[in-house]
Amino acid sequence: MIVVTGATGNIGGPLVRALADAGEQVVAVSRTAAEVPDGVTHATADLTDATTLAPVLAGADALFLLLADPRLDPALLADTAVRAGVRRIVLLSSQGAGTRSESPSHGWFLAAEKAVLDTPAAVTVLRPGGFASNAYQWAASVRADRTVAAPYGDVSLPVVDPDDIAAVAATVLRSDDHAGRTYVLTGPAPISPRQQAAALGAALGEPVGFSELSRADARAAMLAFMPGPIADTTLDVLGHPSAEERQVSPDVEALLRRAPGSFAGWAARNADAFR
Ligand SMILES: NC(=O)c1ccc[n+]([C@@H]2O[C@H](COP(=O)([O-])OP(=O)(O)OC[C@H]3O[C@@H](n4cnc5c(N)ncnc54)[C@H](OP(=O)(O)O)[C@@H]3O)[C@@H](O)[C@H]2O)c1
Repeated sequence: MIVVTGATGNIGGPLVRALADAGEQVVAVSRTAAEVPDGVTHATADLTDATTLAPVLAGADALFLLLADPRLDPALLADTAVRAGVRRIVLLSSQGAGTRSESPSHGWFLAAEKAVLDTPAAVTVLRPGGFASNAYQWAASVRADRTVAAPYGDVSLPVVDPDDIAAVAATVLRSDDHAGRTYVLTGPAPISPRQQAAALGAALGEPVGFSELSRADARAAMLAFMPGPIADTTLDVLGHPSAEERQVSPDVEALLRRAPGSFAGWAARNADAFR
């Protein structure tokens, strides 16, 4: 049995479907009740209270652990899983654990990785770069007046399709071959916010305009849905990426034996959110 946390999110949704399609017994975990595919069980638990996860883990072989809340304790959750008999843990971390470990927000991811790797479980760490689904933050303005406003409009990064993260997670959750490995997950090519706006326009069949936000205006908007230190590091990555953050990682292709999905493909599949 495989327990998937963050099961109703961008990664968890397709991951639960992929595991169910592969014939696995799956328990999908989130705080609120949710529709899940036929044959999948949903369980409610709050990751900030490990005692709520313990009963869900009874009988599980593997755990997909998504650090969905900065208040959760990764070491306690991993220990709870091992005590429940979980042998394999796939941890969804962040590329920033490697490239921005000196920042408080992303240093937290590195500490989480160390805590989970410190357990006797077979652990695989996934370090994705920025998600294509971050473009959902532009859905309201694209729907309203076909515009995207974002900072650093011409800085390109290889954003990754969450469906590819889910496909990688499904692969490593079902095999013993990836214990102790850390994979960096990116898309197939760097793409700028201005180019992402154009790709959304192509998916909609109508032009989508782009206007550049100042860093200060972007930070003010980001504070509505993330803490200040995470906004600051995110803006550093978006505006001044390191060579490693600009680079396309070979890991998605090596694991899935196909090229990673493009932002244009993500936009085409999710165009309805922008209509
Ligand atoms: N966006 C990026 O560019 C990026 C890049 C690298 C890494 N990441 C990491 O990716 C993760 C986000 O993945 P995502 O986009 O798939 O998430 P998402 O779409 O925001 O969904 C979050 C999921 O976690 C659940 N959840 C939230 N708080 C919870 C809690 N306290 N206890 C139990 N479940 C909880 C949510 O359901 P309920 O609300 O019903 O509980 C939902 O199922 C984060 O750890 C983030 O740091 C993101």
